[in-house]
Amino acid sequence: MLYLDNSATTPLLPVVREAMLPYLLEEFGNPSSKYYSKAINATKAIEQARKNVANLLGCKPEELSFTSGSTETNNMVLKGVTDYYQTKGNHIITSKAEHPSILDTCKYLEDLGFQVTYLNVDKYGRVSLDNLKNALSDNTILVSIMWGNNELGSLNPIEEIAALCKESNVFFHTDATQVVGKIDFSLEDLPGISFLSCSAHKFHGPKGTGVTFIRRDEYGVPVPLTPLLHGGGQEGGIRSGTLAVHNIVGMGKAAELANNYLEENILKLKMLEEQLTNILNAKFGRKIVFNNDKINKVPGILNVQFRGVNNEILVKKLAPVIAVSTGSACSSSKPSHVLSSIGLPLEEIRNTIRFSLSHLITEEDLMVFKSL
Ligand SMILES: Cc1ncc(COP(=O)(O)O)c(C=O)c1O
Repeated sequence: MLYLDNSATTPLLPVVREAMLPYLLEEFGNPSSKYYSKAINATKAIEQARKNVANLLGCKPEELSFTSGSTETNNMVLKGVTDYYQTKGNHIITSKAEHPSILDTCKYLEDLGFQVTYLNVDKYGRVSLDNLKNALSDNTILVSIMWGNNELGSLNPIEEIAALCKESNVFFHTDATQVVGKIDFSLEDLPGISFLSCSAHKFHGPKGTGVTFIRRDEYGVPVPLTPLLHGGGQEGGIRSGTLAVHNIVGMGKAAELANNYLEENILKLKMLEEQLTNILNAKFGRKIVFNNDKINKVPGILNVQFRGVNNEILVKKLAPVIAVSTGSACSSSKPSHVLSSIGLPLEEIRNTIRFSLSHLITEEDLMVFKSL
């Protein structure tokens, strides 16, 4: 079976698993313990992983707090910032094409009395800078716009948004879950990004681990926010709870590899995307329509309508040969809100499936389409 659902999750690389194993076995120490070697080894492993992830994101290791993944980070930032700065303002801005972990958190915040502007997106799911400019007010405390869309792959104009937010003195959070390891960027060059979410299992690390990037100023002081989890004070008090050492080590190893092979992996993904596009066009011609943009996107995500074919039935039929999805794994039972936000009628949404590639796939693997 050919796995083409890498935006949902990616396979763990064998070398990542090897790096994790000692921390599930003999090196089981708690990094919050002291003095004995198992505790020290666990702490050292955590700090090495933090450095590796920081190298990949282009930030300082101390700007990263480990979490259970992007759902947690998105909740942490939205709830933490709005709680901490509620006396400064009660307005936040996001987009209609965000992940449910942003949209549902925004709904929750609306119930608490915050005002949320959900920006419209264009036909590829991108926000416009002008719309964002018009939505900003003296009351705005946070803007949260995803970097790359998980269904369409489109990249938002993050550099411009970050600059605008900095100029407007508003915190900017970006959900970078789908772009880490797939586009080249450095947080050092983007001072307008105050917070960022990223998740290990989207770049061949383990599930259940991610980081929250929280920018520090020139004096090393992080942007303050109310913690989501209170307790033992781990991660500088911002995220309490015993660290999942094995998972964090896995994330660190996956980040090291993603960083070392970034250019190579991007080229491979672009090449595979082009090849799959050609195969689909040759095989299905006018029976298909691509919903995704061809440029300015996360390489390796294709969002395709098969005219007149029900996507649930198609995904089910393909399942023994090819693993694909109708869209986001987090909302796969409902028609896609992302496709609805770009103006697709329900009928076309119900004809759409997402193919998402990984650099581990070979050109020969894609030949399976020819035999369909
Ligand atoms: C854009 C985006 N944000 C957030 C998430 C949630 O990440 P996690 O699985 O780490 O909670 C996903 C996962 O699909 C995603 O694609």
